[in-house]
Formats: sequence, C-alpha cells, structure tokens
Amino acid sequence: MIISILTICYLIGSITFIIGLKMLSHPASARNGNLVAAAGMTIAIFGTIFLYEEEGKKLGNYGWIFSGLVIGSIIGTVVAKKVKMTAMPEMVSLFNGMGGACAALISIIEFQHISHHMNNGVEVHKGLLLSIFLGAIIGSVSFAGSMIAWGKLNGKIKDYSYSAQQYVNVGLMLGILAIAGYLIFNLTPENAYWFYIIFIVSLLYGVLFVMPIGGADMPVVISLLNSFTGVAAACGGFLYDNKVMLTGGILVGAAGTLLTILMCKAMNRSLKNVLLGAFGGKKGGASGSTEQGNYKEIFLSDAATIMAYAQKVMIVPGYGLAVAQAQHTCHELEKLLEEKGVEVKYAIHPVAGRMPGHMNVLLAEADVSYDKLLEMEEANEEFKTTDVVLILGANDVVNPAAKNDPSSPIYGMPILEVEQAKTVIVNKRSMKPGYAGIENALFFQPKTSMLFGDAKAALQKLIAEVKNV
Ligand code: TAP
Repeated sequence: MIISILTICYLIGSITFIIGLKMLSHPASARNGNLVAAAGMTIAIFGTIFLYEEEGKKLGNYGWIFSGLVIGSIIGTVVAKKVKMTAMPEMVSLFNGMGGACAALISIIEFQHISHHMNNGVEVHKGLLLSIFLGAIIGSVSFAGSMIAWGKLNGKIKDYSYSAQQYVNVGLMLGILAIAGYLIFNLTPENAYWFYIIFIVSLLYGVLFVMPIGGADMPVVISLLNSFTGVAAACGGFLYDNKVMLTGGILVGAAGTLLTILMCKAMNRSLKNVLLGAFGGKKGGASGSTEQGNYKEIFLSDAATIMAYAQKVMIVPGYGLAVAQAQHTCHELEKLLEEKGVEVKYAIHPVAGRMPGHMNVLLAEADVSYDKLLEMEEANEEFKTTDVVLILGANDVVNPAAKNDPSSPIYGMPILEVEQAKTVIVNKRSMKPGYAGIENALFFQPKTSMLFGDAKAALQKLIAEVKNV
C-alpha cells in the first residue's frame, strides 16, 4: 500500500514536470508552469522522505535531511529574491552547476557503496557501473563548466585559448571515456582508484572546455551545460530506479539539447565545434580596431517627430533594455505611438540579452502583446517596409560585422538587418561595445543616429516629446 502511494507521488511529480514544461513555452503561462512543476517536485521529495523503504526500513536521518532542505531553501529564496534581472543568467549557471555537482556526488557515494560490496566479493552489475561513471563524468563536466560560465558572465573570468586546445580537449575526453569503458568491464579493488582520477580529469575538462569559448558564443554553451546536468540527473534516476528523477533528468536533458540545437542555428555554429570548444575566444579583428569615422547624434524632439509621423516603427530590444529595466516605459511609448496611428512591432533576436528568451520574458512582464514580437527571420523581412528602427540597448545582435567581416569573432552569426529600414535610431549610453567586445559599424552609417542615455530615462523623455507632437 505504502509503495503504491509513493508510486503515485512519483507519477504526479512526472506529470507535473511535463505540464510545467509545456506551460513554460508561453510567457503568459510560464510563471504558473514553474509553480505546477515545483508542486510536483515537493510531493515527490516528501513522498521519498516519508514513504520510501529499503528492506522494510525507512530513510531515517531526518535531522540531516531537513537541515539540508531548510538551509538550501533559505539560500535559494534569498538569492532568487535579491538577484537583479540582469544577473539572472549568472544565477541560472550557478544553479545548473549545483545540479551537476549533485549528480557527480551521488555517483561518488554510490561508487563507494559498490567498492565496499566488491571488496566483500559481490559481483557488480555493469549497468549500475555505467550509470555511476556517466553520472560522475557528465555531472562534473557540467559543474566545472557552469562555474566557468558563471565567472565569464559576471566578467570575473576572461576567455583563454591556446593553439593546441582542441587536441588537448579531444584527447582528455577520449582518455576519460576509454578508461571508464575499461573499468566498467574490468573493475577490481586494485584499480578502483582510477574512478577518482576520472572524476578529477572530468572537472579539468569542464574548465578547459568552457575557457576558450567567448564573445557571442556563450548562449550555446550555457544551454549545452544545462542539458548535461539533465542527463547526469537521469543517470541518478537509473541508478536508484527512481522514476521521477529519471523523468526530470530526461526532460531537462532533452529540453537543453533542443535549446542547444536552436541556439546553434541562431548563432550559425555547428554542434561539433561547440563540443570541441573550437570557436570563440578570438577578440578584436578588423571590426574591433578599425577607425569607423564619425557618428551623428539626434535630438529627442527630432526622434519623437520622426517616430510620431512614421507608418511603421520596429523596436529592437537588447541587453541594455534589461539593465535599465525600461520594459514598462517602452510599452508606454508603444501604446502612445499606436494612439497616433503608428504600427509598432518588436524584432527579437534569439540571443539578445543574456539568457535564452530574455527579451520575451522582459516584454511579457510589461504586458507587451505576444503577437507584436517578431522572430528574427520575420523581422528581417519586415525591415524593408519599416520607417524607423528604434534600437534600445542592443549592439551585437545588429552588428553588420557578423555578415561582412570574416575576421570578426561574431562572423557568421545571423543578425537583425536593421539597416534595411529607412531610419535607424540607436539608444545606448556611450559608444562602448556590447558583450562580444567589438565596435559596431552600424553606428557610423549615414542612416543611423545615436540617442545617448540610459534607456529608461531616454524613453521617458521621448514619451514626453511624442505627446507634444
Ligand atoms: P550587447 O551586445 O551586450 O549590447 C548591449 C548594449 O546595451 C551595450 O552596448 C551597452 O552600451 C548598452 N547598455 C547597457 N546598459 C544600458 C542602459 N542602461 N541603457 C541603454 N543602453 C545600455 O547586447 P545584445 O545586442 O542584446 O546582444 C547580446 C549579446 O550577449 C550577444 O553577444 C550574445 O551572444 C551574448 N550572450 C547572450 C546570451 C543569451 S542566451 N541571450 C547569453 C550569454 C551571452 P553602453 O554601455 O554604451 O550603454
């Protein structure tokens, strides 16, 4: 009877994960989707703590378990409440790394149990060993890689690459897999220490794998590390024959893999290059150093007049909009222009901001209607018929070097082709580069005008001016 209640708890957990994930695919239902999945996870956790039995014995250790739960919940809540929206990607990387670390630690603990049984002459099941090794390898790569990604996103760690880096990375990974494969079939008490060497080398691989990846390529790595953590957790599910852990891990692994493929497509990179840590790192190039000429500024009143008399205005949001928390003000400007008969749409680049879907989340928070958001391909079609493009804190995603400068670190990345519109107004605070650290020739083109200032303050002033037109 007790077993069946636990099975039902796991079933509820698995179903809520699937429903939650489905709801996460739309900004309007995403928040509730998160709550639904979290409720299912809570049921599964408490079901395990109070109902799970092995050889007729309950888990026990309640003091330890609840101390961990309480400390973890307090830290998680405080950090999540305090984090700024712009620092969310760093936090996601950190939490993702913790998931990888948990999966690796589970493998280490279970390996110790197995070693104990092996020392007593019990034969170890190969499938069990496979789950343990995979959990340890993938979990530690994900942990170490996510920590480096966290450091890179908050600017504490700089890109680092050297000439033979690809070969070292491939060599390390092949070495790890070869030794793990050998041990799975030939594990003895004498060679068991190699498991810990594999664990340490996997950590090293995680560091070396992410270190060279730079510029605009981080989004691909972040989603890849996400999928690694899912797969590592699924290994734990196999290990314990725990259905809810297995379902959760597979869902995260599959969603992360799909996101990685989408990100690769968005960045025009091959997955092979990502896995080998073969791209990025190189900064500068012609676009980073050439003198681009002069740029021109625009008065607020002129910007307001051009926009108020336009037929179609396309807003391009970027990381700066998130920094300024200007999404509500932006929505206000959109409504005001529409009252004046202007058609307003938003062009969303898949890697604008610092996390997948960053701009969608930001604009949904301000109640911007979802059907006003155009994906990159649609937007690129519509720029031809657009009178004014208003770029709000975006830079790399509109940098033409991605199309026409082979020496640029973002060369090959599809961009929003804003220069097809009649007029381009760029709002940012200075001429400083964006995430990829390179200059942007768009800012120096004849049809582009710069509107300097913090996005929120500039939009507020623009609204006041538009009201006067
Ligand atoms: P960026 O290229 O990073 O440019 C953002 C611009 O916003 C900066 O040039 C900055 O210029 C301006 N800015 C900052 N604060 C501002 C404020 N308060 N008001 C107005 N402007 C402000 O952003 P993007 O175009 O959105 O491109 C995203 C980049 O991040 C890509 O390179 C992408 O690969 C990378 N990335 C993306 C992700 C994901 S998954 N989306 C993850 C990691 C990295 P000033 O300093 O002059 O104001």
